[in-house]
Amino acid sequence: MSFQAPKGTFDWLPPKSEQILAVRAALAQPVRQAGYGYIETPSFEDTELFARGVGESTDIVSKEMYTFPDKAGRSLTLRPEGTASVVRAVLQHNLHTGQLPVKLWYSGSQYRYERAQRGRYRHFWQVGAEALGAEDPALDAELIVLAARGFADLGLTQVELLLNSLGDKVCRPVYRAALQDFLRGLDLDDDTRARIEINPLRVLDDNRPEVRAQLVGAPLVVDHLCAPCKAYHEEVRALLTEAGVAFTDDPRLVRGLDYYTRTTFEFVHGGLGSQSAVGGGGRYDGLSEMLGGPALPSVGWAVGVDRTFLAMEAEGLLGETTEARVQVYGVALGDDARRRMFLLVDEVRKAGISADMAFGGKGLKGAMKGAGRSGARFALILGERDLAAQAVQLKDLTTAEQTEVPLAQVVDVLKGKVQ
Ligand code: HAM
Repeated sequence: MSFQAPKGTFDWLPPKSEQILAVRAALAQPVRQAGYGYIETPSFEDTELFARGVGESTDIVSKEMYTFPDKAGRSLTLRPEGTASVVRAVLQHNLHTGQLPVKLWYSGSQYRYERAQRGRYRHFWQVGAEALGAEDPALDAELIVLAARGFADLGLTQVELLLNSLGDKVCRPVYRAALQDFLRGLDLDDDTRARIEINPLRVLDDNRPEVRAQLVGAPLVVDHLCAPCKAYHEEVRALLTEAGVAFTDDPRLVRGLDYYTRTTFEFVHGGLGSQSAVGGGGRYDGLSEMLGGPALPSVGWAVGVDRTFLAMEAEGLLGETTEARVQVYGVALGDDARRRMFLLVDEVRKAGISADMAFGGKGLKGAMKGAGRSGARFALILGERDLAAQAVQLKDLTTAEQTEVPLAQVVDVLKGKVQ
């Protein structure tokens, strides 16, 4: 074999690829039902959009972006996430001057140059939802409820919701300073010391045991929330409780993107090992202004489709992947019969019945093998003699029962049998 998919990427092949389509559709269904409109943005943007939007100090921007110059010398980047692009599109097309909030959802590839491992890929797929232009705890709660419903509709029962608030531009700087004071007193390596000055919240995310042990007494953002942030967070919590969505307060939950304010959350699954987050999101009240727009308080999430699939696998929800691709399979013998079969199969499809046929001039045995593999219930067999009689043999592949049907009636007969 000469080529392989690049490191950290993989192919979705039939029949699993059918299941991934179903997973994407199921994740999107709850937000569609809640009035979120579909948006597609380009898979690359100006590098500066992500540098400013996601944040220079994040791993995503500093280490993981696929950045390249185009032929005119512009710096472009394959999108590492969807939120910055959605905000860019809303501002560019003035959607925020109409009815607020602007509610949008998307589904697409994302690209991050990460250390590849199970559940962590360099090319992966997200379904996401964003609500822009409203500061309302009910909107945060709505989005969380809808994401939880997507997981539940897929049959997942072991997805856990972690919830936190990161405060706002009033209380976060005070907290940040208190955290920095605390962290500067610890015994840490140089890289981590540097991180204290750039992005101290990320230090809380450090999973190394020797660091974790020292973080036990770290100040927590919940203890530093200003009164409005506290009230906002309590309301989100109350609404989730009333909606019956279970959550765990996680005062150490920090997200890997800089734009978050107030509500932040993550959906995690125990069956995924170290890459446990199946989805995440939160409020990003300052992002629009960071991108040169007006104040546009907003909230959203993205769910990792590939990880959701792994979670379903871990819960044994995917079942047998039988390749029942079509309902009817055409087998023709001889050139004239093949030509007639080509048209007949198309007539069957036009009648709303899925159908395939043997290609490549196979003999009867090979073609019947194809019929068996196709998962079809019925085979249509057409030989030269049938063609002369303007009839076709209809074979029920489950009972091996075979009947002759006039060509002119075969579509109607099939309609009666398969629907
Ligand atoms: P994120 O937490 O970076 O947030 O990604 C969301 C989800 O995408 C993760 O929970 C995970 O399931 C999946 N994911 C991330 N990286 C990878 C990877 N390398 N391989 C496989 N799956 C991955 C965001 O992207 C934000 N834009 C979410 C958001 C929307 N916040 C507000 N609105």
